This record gives sequence, C-alpha cells and structure tokens, in this order.
Amino acid sequence: MKVFLCPTRTDLARLTATLLAEQISRKPRSVLGLATGRTMEAVYAHLVQRHREDGLDFSGCTTFNLDEYVGLPATDARSYHAYMHTHLFQHVGIAPDRTHLPNGMAADLAAEGQRYDAAIKAAGDIDLQLLGLGENGHIGFNEPLSSLASRTRPVVLAPETRQQNAGLFDGNPESVPPLALTMGTGTILESRRIVLTVAGKAKAEMLRAVLEGPVTAQISASALHFHTNCLVLADEDAASALTIRPALDHALIHDPELRALHSLLT
Ligand code: GLP
Repeated sequence: MKVFLCPTRTDLARLTATLLAEQISRKPRSVLGLATGRTMEAVYAHLVQRHREDGLDFSGCTTFNLDEYVGLPATDARSYHAYMHTHLFQHVGIAPDRTHLPNGMAADLAAEGQRYDAAIKAAGDIDLQLLGLGENGHIGFNEPLSSLASRTRPVVLAPETRQQNAGLFDGNPESVPPLALTMGTGTILESRRIVLTVAGKAKAEMLRAVLEGPVTAQISASALHFHTNCLVLADEDAASALTIRPALDHALIHDPELRALHSLLT
C-alpha cells in the first residue's frame, strides 16, 4: 500500500480524476470500478470537465459500481443509479449497457450478488477500482465484521452508516433503507489496481486505523493491506491523525511513483 497526501480537498479530487483519466487513456476499454458518496462528486465533476475540454473518451469503458440500496428503483433520485447518472454517466457519453450497478430491486438478492460477481469476471475483471471510506471503515457497504473475503451480497447497514447517509433522505436515518447490495471485500480485492480517496477531518481517526493497523474485520478497509497495488490518497485533514506521517514524507522524497504523483499536482 502506498500513501500520498494532497494539500487540499480540491487537489485530492483532481488527482483522483487524473489517475482515472490516465487509466482510460492508457486502456480505452478499461473496466472501471466506481464509488458514490460526497467525496466522489468532485472527482466526477473533474472527469466531466476533462471529457468536455480534453475529449476524454469514456465510450469504450465498462463500469461496475460498488453498491446500491435495496428497495430503491433506478428512477428514485436517492438511488446510486440516479447518483451516477446525475454526476457522471449522462455527461460523458457512455452507453447505458456498459454501466453496471447491483439491482437493489431484485427478487432474489443473494442471486443478484452472484450474478454481479459473474458479470465482473465476464468483463475481464476490474482494472481500476475507486473507493471512498466510510466513517466506520467500510468500503462499498462492507460494514464492520464483514468477512474480508466476502463476495457481492445483501447486507444490513450499520446505524452509523444510515446516520451518515441521511442527507438525501430528509436528514432522517430511519428513512435510509436498512439493506443494501454491496460488492464484497474479497471481490474488491480482485481488482488489478485500487485507489482509496479520503477527505476531511471526520475520517482522520479511521484513516489512521486503516493505515496503521491492525488488519481487522471491524474495519473492512484494513483488508486493502492484502492488495499489492493499492494507492491511498488523502487530504491534509484526513491525514491529521496519522502517527506515520514522517515515514510518508520520507517515502515521498525517495519513491519514484510518489514523486510522479507529486508532479501531477503542480
Ligand atoms: C457510502 C458508500 C461508500 C462510500 C461512502 C463515503 O456509504 N456506500 O462506498 O465510500 O459513502 O461517503 P462520503 O464520501 O460521502 O463520506
């Protein structure tokens, strides 16, 4: 796992978008794993801008999102289907049949999870998986105590997750669906490359726990230590609780990959 710190939240969103854009330019038929949440809104805004201004071409890409609420149809503005349409898909000319999210309306949710994992495999596996971090350490909706080897499946959302995501549900956690379908932690770990993007003071303690350990099923993101090509990008606020900060500064001076990221910032 490599860690790179960005001075501001804006730099963080821009750099995350740059890594996705580089992936698409290098391999136009990339399979992208996409995430939702407030942190990603700015990332998608940068990607839309690059599509408009630099002609970044999404038309050959295939996308798989991490998760969806159970019981919300794609037409519901609070669904992640709607989120992706609003923030990215409708702006970048990607054919709807190349975009995939778990179907939270499926009659058999377990079967839908298996179908989703099979679809990822059939597409050739995910080249680059984008991740956000939940305040309880979840990736996707892999809540505490999810198996670190879990597959795409229905899950019960933790009370703190319903609280955090209540914004779109009139601020009422009780209105947030209690169930979701999520790509499993094990599924996520099969991606060729992973970028975890973390912003804000509210994530600082959790980011410290993720990076500094121990690896534990209480914190699904800690499983990323088992991945051999995972980059963690954080802004200074999210990095504010790290005790390994001097080691990160040392690595920045000597690691060519981190120095290349630094040059993308300026
Ligand atoms: C939701 C998503 C997660 C995402 C998290 C972070 O819970 N299911 O995949 O990582 O939000 O959201 P935010 O960026 O709003 O803090």
